[in-house]
Amino acid sequence: MSERLVEIETFDFSEQNSESTLRPSAWSGYIGQEQIKKNLSVFIEASKKRDEALDHILFFGPPGLGKTTLALIIANEMNANIKVTAAPMIEKSGDLAAILTNLEEGDILFIDEIHRLSPAVEEILYSSMEDYRIDIIIGSGPAAQTVKIDLPRFTLIGATTRAGMLSNPLRDRFGMNFRMQFYKPEELAKIIEQAATKLGKEVEHKAALEIAKRSRATPRIALRLLRRVRDFADVADEDTISLKTTKYALDELGINTHGFDEMDIKLLELLATANGKPMGLSNIAATLSEDEGTVEDVLEPYLIANGYLERTAKGRVATHKTFDVLNIQPPQQEGTLF
Ligand SMILES: Nc1ncnc2c1ncn2[C@@H]1O[C@H](COP(=O)(O)OP(=O)(O)OP(=O)(O)O)[C@@H](O)[C@H]1O
Ligand SMILES: [Mg+2]
Repeated sequence: MSERLVEIETFDFSEQNSESTLRPSAWSGYIGQEQIKKNLSVFIEASKKRDEALDHILFFGPPGLGKTTLALIIANEMNANIKVTAAPMIEKSGDLAAILTNLEEGDILFIDEIHRLSPAVEEILYSSMEDYRIDIIIGSGPAAQTVKIDLPRFTLIGATTRAGMLSNPLRDRFGMNFRMQFYKPEELAKIIEQAATKLGKEVEHKAALEIAKRSRATPRIALRLLRRVRDFADVADEDTISLKTTKYALDELGINTHGFDEMDIKLLELLATANGKPMGLSNIAATLSEDEGTVEDVLEPYLIANGYLERTAKGRVATHKTFDVLNIQPPQQEGTLF
């Protein structure tokens, strides 16, 4: 789902992989998420004024909405070094201790997929976040000794697609937490236009909007589609990507006009053919051969935000919009929702 960061690295903005070339490195290039940007800029300015490390920050929300990008911009704004890692890479408490003891004053440690830390590792993280200190046990048996190590003041930025899986003690230790919002078509169009310029291409506003509407309200998907549409425009010798070529390309690629992907459609069809009966999460996951977490945190948020699915006490149900969009007749019989 999210791109895996294989090892600890100090992030280099000039790195040339496909996602990072289009990644904005300053606020000016970061479109949307206005509330988050507003709050963060205040906190950043205040901590710079006081010459203190920024409080720990947690970002949560579906993949591709700009969590990693935000962490990198914060580091840039703070003039801080950022170490980037992901929870699955930190297997033992010793791994985390090694990372923490290598940090310098004011550094930022970014941990992606932070809900996946093991309890033993989480334990070490608590004291490091709260007291900037860790206790390490050296040796074993009666000769074992606890050594206290003081850490520099650092900022932890955690990101997760699964806020519900974060333990309360961990969540409580973040001074700030932000839920990422889906993007409006106009915002995505801006992101697309900005990225097109970076790729050395212009794009008609209407074409950018067309891509935006089919991108599941998600910048990562919008940028992926832009690259594909650009291929079609190049072949058609267009300097400026036109609406016509965009529509043609997206249709050729089988991109749904409502921004759904294949899994969305499968899920909606499943609910729509359940005759108005609510379906439980585990049942849905099993039928789609997906794990429950993916259904709940990756698939559903977009559908719920757009009124295509409702969570009720009895389970998930299709809405009128679902039936409309799938062109399926809603059930009429008694005992159903309609
Ligand atoms: N607000 C934004 N403005 C401009 N570009 C953005 C914005 N948000 C995301 N992007 C672009 O979208 C891509 C995906 O963003 P990012 O990697 O930050 O998502 P993420 O939330 O960390 O995803 P995941 O949960 O999968 O790790 C990046 O290439 C980035 O350039
Ligand atoms: Mg990320």
